Amino acid sequence: MTRSMIDILDFTTEELQELIDTANDIIANPEFYCERCRGKKLATLFFEPSTRTRLSFEAAMYELGGNVIGFSEAQSSSASKGESVADTAKVISCYADIIAMRHPKEGAPLVAAMNASIPVINAGDGGHNHPTQTLADLLTIYREKGGFDGLSVGFCGDLKFGRTVHSLINALSRYEGLKFFFISPEELKVPSYVKKGILAERSIPYVQTTDLESAMPELDILYMTRVQRERFFNEEDYLRLKDSYILTPEKLKNAKESLSIMHPLPRVNEISVAIDEDPRACYFKQVLYGKYMRMALILKLLKEAGTL
Ligand code: CP
Repeated sequence: MTRSMIDILDFTTEELQELIDTANDIIANPEFYCERCRGKKLATLFFEPSTRTRLSFEAAMYELGGNVIGFSEAQSSSASKGESVADTAKVISCYADIIAMRHPKEGAPLVAAMNASIPVINAGDGGHNHPTQTLADLLTIYREKGGFDGLSVGFCGDLKFGRTVHSLINALSRYEGLKFFFISPEELKVPSYVKKGILAERSIPYVQTTDLESAMPELDILYMTRVQRERFFNEEDYLRLKDSYILTPEKLKNAKESLSIMHPLPRVNEISVAIDEDPRACYFKQVLYGKYMRMALILKLLKEAGTL
């Protein structure tokens, strides 16, 4: 099977560092990379809405000199006529060199990878994983903190359905001396498969709390998340939980000066816009770094596929 990125753990920490190094080199020397994918095509198959992930993949491929084909909603593809993910992957393999796929069903990008003859990148599958958001998050942390070891990282909001949270916990768990703070309403706690998986295997210390302000003074990173309306079966539950955490300047009064505030975006109202001007706010940097990491990933996967 051609190498794909379905889960962040598909890549070793050495490989993730290689992607970070390449992304930093692209930032420093963009002209060196601007023709590297000349004649290559990326297919963006988005069965779910997206602004950042789809457009940053497209910008990434254009900045590498390549081209992009694809669709941005299931309704405009033959999935609406009942075509399977497996058949879609076989078909797109005839037209493109690499696929980025977002799908509401957990595991759909894996099915695509098992049936495609080209690399497949998981651009978010249901409430499961979002490994390329994690690439953006890792580059942000690396550039802000200079590394990953020994950090205290707080995740706040929807930790149950938040696929970006699950992927980032997995990625960070492989570094040394980390401590996690999981801050959420009872109903949106980190799933037990995450806690019983890598956290238990590596004996990583974590605190589970509903209280953001008590955790705040300890944090080096605060990773805020949106309560996702689209993941709830019941509108009443969503309305009850959606405003559980709203980060305001007042709530940062006990935070470290060196805190980095992250958010995968989109934001609804969980971070006050008054915080955007705070030098600790990193969420728009994350957006930009996502493009560079996706460029690095496209280059790596196309090289490994023997296409470049
Ligand atoms: N962070 C993220 O996945 O954003 P989009 O849903 O806009 O792609």
